[in-house]
Amino acid sequence: MKQKTVYLCSECGYEAPKWYGKCPSCGAWNTMAEFKPQPPSAARGTNTFARGASRPTLLSDIETGDESRFRSGIGELDRVLGGGAVHGSFVLVGGEPGIGKSTLLLQMCQEMCKSARVLYVSGEESLRQIKLRATRLKIASPALYILAETDMDQIISETEQLAPDILIVDSIQTVYRRDLTAAPGGTTQIKECAMSLMQYAKNKSVTIFIVGHVNKEGTLAGPKILEHMVDCVLYFEGESTGSFRCLRAAKNRYGSTNEIGVFEMSDHGLLEVQNPSAAMLAGHPQGASGNCIACVMEGSRPLLAEVQALAAKTQFGVPRRTAAGVDYNRMVLLLAILEKRCGLFLSSSDVYCNVVGGLRLDEPAADLPMVLAIASSFRDKPLPEGVMSFGEVGLTGELRAVSNAAQRINEGYRLGFHTCIMPQQEVDEGLAQRMTLVRVQTVADAIRAVL
Ligand code: TYD
Ligand code: MG
Repeated sequence: MKQKTVYLCSECGYEAPKWYGKCPSCGAWNTMAEFKPQPPSAARGTNTFARGASRPTLLSDIETGDESRFRSGIGELDRVLGGGAVHGSFVLVGGEPGIGKSTLLLQMCQEMCKSARVLYVSGEESLRQIKLRATRLKIASPALYILAETDMDQIISETEQLAPDILIVDSIQTVYRRDLTAAPGGTTQIKECAMSLMQYAKNKSVTIFIVGHVNKEGTLAGPKILEHMVDCVLYFEGESTGSFRCLRAAKNRYGSTNEIGVFEMSDHGLLEVQNPSAAMLAGHPQGASGNCIACVMEGSRPLLAEVQALAAKTQFGVPRRTAAGVDYNRMVLLLAILEKRCGLFLSSSDVYCNVVGGLRLDEPAADLPMVLAIASSFRDKPLPEGVMSFGEVGLTGELRAVSNAAQRINEGYRLGFHTCIMPQQEVDEGLAQRMTLVRVQTVADAIRAVL
């Protein structure tokens, strides 16, 4: 019998009987890849959740029992997971190559294998390489099993024999199923391998961590559906030149997606950063123009960060703009506001913006500090010492209130700041006694207040 061939979109998972240059569902180009489905007798495609539970049940009658979790002993990781990895959950750890995913997972094993049986499968490194890394990380865990393998059938059968409580697959791009013709690392292989692992996880109640590499655009290399399949998606990010790394939950069925974990890469692996604000401010130059301390919220935690800017005369016709750690478009918008509303003629200046420590500030509350850093560099005048700021900037140059003002002010106070430039918003009166609160209405007022 001739085997049926279908085409799958790597972006959205759309299935079509013929090839398209543009996916009819999500509109992405060149994402359709050939895929030969297995006959239904093979393990794929059966919904394991539905088995035995296919009748409507009253919500109040569903028993969940206590949600037990494996703790990694790494506080920052456990917090992002929502208090540890839930038994039987499926966790995807994504990040750029070289960011430290393998290091993080190996370090996690150290504590976990004290209470559980852990199998670490690597498709990227040999046993010897893993051992060398473990030695470097000072991981001495007699109960940790390592397997260097890329063949999915082999991985599943070894896993069945060993019956671990926790399985780590590093990385999903390197494993492959022999029965599929597609190349390893391709959409089809990634999807099918993840499917096999998921089935195994749900049937045997094993906790699975898979590593996924992220491509240049910052999305997971491979199908988007991988993110839909798993219970929890963690992204490990940071500037490759900086030593700080942030772990964020992009999706978490067992906890909040607001938390972040901050790590620092050292010679002996990843270290938890207990006091991220202090770490981010280390080496903060005093009396130099072109920098401003911002307070942003990372999940439920306030975090101080140093925003730097450099405005220099343009040498060639078109001014250059470069942004690292802040959104490029946001920066360009703020430059336009500075020009139009504050009379700072930046159109003949190159402007570079950077956040120290490799942190990314995506919150609008970082607008005002960015504006102040740029204005400070443009006028070559430093901000007074001990000043921090936060506030969202609107298109007319007005400052808009932000959430959690009190928490931000307290964090600044804790680290020795005495003045805060902020929007006109209500805060607890007690705070005003701790810190001088300069509440301004517009960007122009803010600049006048400090420069
Ligand atoms: P790795 O965990 O291999 O990254 P990934 O699995 O995400 O590709 O980490 C790689 C980088 O981390 C590598 O460039 C070296 C650095 N590193 C240290 O600086 N110190 C260490 O102790 C270890 C193990 C790695
Ligand atoms: Mg790796």
